[in-house]
Amino acid sequence: MKIALLGFGGMGKVVRTIALERGHEVPVIVDPSAAEATAKKLDVLMLKGIDVVIDFSGGDAVMENLKICKEAGVNLVEGATGWYGKSDEMKKIVGAKDGGGEIGFLWSSNFSIGVNMYFKIVEAAAKLVNKFDEYDVWGTEIHHCNKVDSPSGTAKTLEKILLENIERKTAVVEDKLDRKREMNEIHFSSVRGGLVNFGHTIGFDSAADRITITHEARCRDGYALGAVKAAEWIVGKKGYFEMEDFLNG
Ligand SMILES: NC(=O)c1ccc[n+]([C@@H]2O[C@H](COP(=O)([O-])OP(=O)(O)OC[C@H]3O[C@@H](n4cnc5c(N)ncnc54)[C@H](O)[C@@H]3O)[C@@H](O)[C@H]2O)c1
Repeated sequence: MKIALLGFGGMGKVVRTIALERGHEVPVIVDPSAAEATAKKLDVLMLKGIDVVIDFSGGDAVMENLKICKEAGVNLVEGATGWYGKSDEMKKIVGAKDGGGEIGFLWSSNFSIGVNMYFKIVEAAAKLVNKFDEYDVWGTEIHHCNKVDSPSGTAKTLEKILLENIERKTAVVEDKLDRKREMNEIHFSSVRGGLVNFGHTIGFDSAADRITITHEARCRDGYALGAVKAAEWIVGKKGYFEMEDFLNG
């Protein structure tokens, strides 16, 4: 497979290494600030002959990059976070799942298989906790100091899972609190520190005990391998896909 890589920072570098290890080529690297990049900005012409684009740049350029991929007819695996308000617009650009779309587009807040198992574990725990209202719920995430957005995309997915499965919780607060937290709220905090830090914890707390469920990544490899495997999976497919489709496929 010939891959074009958008963003050659922490993730982009590991994605390239893993893609090459799996026998793919990475002839196009777009990044405005990386010395190894082949271009500073994506355009349609540079996607000629490319099978799939993998994006680990920043949230700002996601929509523009998607439009360019569509114009070039090249599938896109979206790993960048921080663009969530725009997912309906993205769906409209890409088109329906299962062959209805013009290009294949797959995004995930987290391409790590471990984190996706973690989502399922948290979902099962939330369903249980829903039955026992003596348990309160909270969340926290820590990421490296260079991450530019907060909360993490993974935290956003966890928040959604908790709200969907615990009926007495109807809102999430991500900011610092200068008031009592309401019983219907979940407080989800973000901490930034260190150079290689990716951790999420969900806590269930009663007067008698506390259950915490934590996922901690040791490096970026799990995310990058998941993204390259997703790129292999999406070849030949058209429409808007999420990680669940890839995992089930
Ligand atoms: N989905 C996942 O599994 C997953 C995992 C880790 C990180 N991420 C996300 O991936 C993104 C990148 O993470 P990172 O840790 O590599 O960040 P990073 O800051 O180390 O690297 C980002 C790179 O993108 C470049 N860039 C910025 N704008 C660009 C543009 N318009 N076109 C091309 N390149 C551009 C920057 O110059 C930088 O080199 C972030 O949004 C992060 O949240 C997602």
